[in-house]
Amino acid sequence: MLRNAALTTLLARQSLQAASSSVNNEDLDPLRLNADGTFQISIFSDLHFAQDASGSGPDQDRASVKVMSDILDFDPPDLVVLNGDLINGEDTYRENSTHYIDQIVAPMVDRNLTWATTYGNHDHNRNINGEGILEREHMWPGARTSAMINTTMSGVTNYYLPVYASNCTTVEDCTPELLLWFFDSRGGRYYQGGAQPNWVHSDVVEWFEDTNAALVEEYDTEIPSLAFVHIPIHATYVFQQEEGPDKNYQPGINQESVVQQGDGWCAEGDDSGNCSYGDQDDPFMRALVATERIIGLFYGHDHGNSWCYNWNSRISDMTITGNGINLCYGQHTGYGGYGDWIRGARQIIVTREGLRNNTVDSYIRLESGESVGRVSLNSTFNTDYYNSTSNQKTYLSDIFSAGSLIQPKVFSFYSSPLILSLATVMCLSM
Ligand SMILES: *[C@@H]1O[C@H](CO)[C@@H](O)[C@H](O)[C@H]1NC(C)=O
Ligand SMILES: *[C@@H]1O[C@H](CO)[C@@H](O)[C@H](O)[C@H]1NC(C)=O
Ligand SMILES: *[C@@H]1O[C@H](CO)[C@@H](O)[C@H](O)[C@H]1NC(C)=O
Ligand SMILES: *[C@@H]1O[C@H](CO)[C@@H](O)[C@H](O)[C@H]1NC(C)=O
Ligand SMILES: *[C@@H]1O[C@H](CO)[C@@H](O)[C@H](O)[C@H]1NC(C)=O
Ligand SMILES: *[C@@H]1O[C@H](CO)[C@@H](O)[C@H](O)[C@H]1NC(C)=O
Ligand SMILES: *[C@@H]1O[C@H](CO)[C@@H](O)[C@H](O)[C@H]1NC(C)=O
Ligand SMILES: *[C@@H]1O[C@H](CO)[C@@H](O)[C@H](O)[C@H]1NC(C)=O
Repeated sequence: MLRNAALTTLLARQSLQAASSSVNNEDLDPLRLNADGTFQISIFSDLHFAQDASGSGPDQDRASVKVMSDILDFDPPDLVVLNGDLINGEDTYRENSTHYIDQIVAPMVDRNLTWATTYGNHDHNRNINGEGILEREHMWPGARTSAMINTTMSGVTNYYLPVYASNCTTVEDCTPELLLWFFDSRGGRYYQGGAQPNWVHSDVVEWFEDTNAALVEEYDTEIPSLAFVHIPIHATYVFQQEEGPDKNYQPGINQESVVQQGDGWCAEGDDSGNCSYGDQDDPFMRALVATERIIGLFYGHDHGNSWCYNWNSRISDMTITGNGINLCYGQHTGYGGYGDWIRGARQIIVTREGLRNNTVDSYIRLESGESVGRVSLNSTFNTDYYNSTSNQKTYLSDIFSAGSLIQPKVFSFYSSPLILSLATVMCLSM
């Protein structure tokens, strides 16, 4: 047993070195639609690894790995999006805070899947920062996360990924079929410092507007797009307060008040520290609704909400009017983080046909295997009747008493071919 443990540690160390020295994610193939014109995205939200590290944390983390693994096997996606709060930075040590990434990406690495990340407020803290997480992600093959703008206020995960047609051989000659935009809504704390503002900064909004305008010019067309960010926007808050999601027209659970970007902060430059919200995400919202053919914005943060809403009108006295962008929560994926709502992942189904109409379909795949809340995010969403989603709960104790997780699956990256051969050599030589 002891020998196994020592071997495990040794292998882990060697495999990490092997993984890091041989990885160059710059060489990853560009994303492409499948030959049948489909493209499926799984969103894992709010994993909160490392929470309660001295208590049930390690069990929570194993359960989260199981949720991700099961969902990837139910519904193998073409891209995984980790939509913020991967690691519960309050609970981590400076020297190894980013190492939780190894466990988080293992389900994808094991399956040769590729992923893209946004960071959330818990990923920014005294002992952890976005730059460190980014570096750790890129020790593993399949990471597409990047930082396309670095200003003092930008945060890290601001970038876009083009998705090309399946028959596109030379991407320089092809117009992307779809653009995926990723934004860092920051929050939490600065590394070794104080509180960090929690909205998409105006520097990033400018970068988004300029980059999108350049793409429109380059391709001489508006390309359909999807966007991902951790913290919901003010429109989500106003919709919930003023109208509220209807269980049959915006199916999903609606179990908590929206905590929006800018929550708890005064307007930019006003440090009186006494405000509940100060319109900080106005520039971001204006840029989103000015983006023609943007189909949806997907966020997490509020673990008790999982509905979508088609923002196609003026809500209440908001000065910004929606352009038909669908605003969608994911499903709390992690056993870390507050709440016992059943874990799952929002799935997005892109089809070439749907893109012509600025439409994608979506549903939530639960850890139980059941799928709920299937909707078409098309021009009549908000008026199409759907079955409501029941409010199910799951508990860590159920997972463990079911016996399925009694043997911790510590280093699942053994199954990568490189590591397997390494393990074989090690075992043979002992
Ligand atoms: C980080 O270090 C702490 C303290 O030594 C340890 O308890 C924890 O398991 C480590 N976490 C990881 C992911 O290595
Ligand atoms: C992993 O995926 C890439 C891209 O989809 C593919 O080219 C490669 O052959 C796959 N590798 C394995 C071992 O399946
Ligand atoms: C921003 O910084 C990251 C490292 O944190 C680096 O990988 C990236 O290339 C930089 N981006 C730009 C546009 O300089
Ligand atoms: C890819 O297929 C489409 C039709 O499905 C065609 O219009 C297009 O020209 C093809 N592109 C390339 C690069 O072959
Ligand atoms: C902060 O709030 C208190 C009451 O809640 C108010 O009296 C005070 O003027 C506020 N301070 C600022 C700087 O706005
Ligand atoms: C596209 O929109 C048209 C008209 O609104 C509709 O008839 C058609 O079914 C839509 N196609 C898809 C794939 O959503
Ligand atoms: C939108 O999708 C729903 C559900 O599939 C469908 O009933 C409705 O006709 C669609 N609307 C359009 C404009 O295609
Ligand atoms: C909606 O609910 C009804 C009644 O419970 C059920 O018969 C039907 O299969 C459900 N439809 C879907 C798409 O789940």
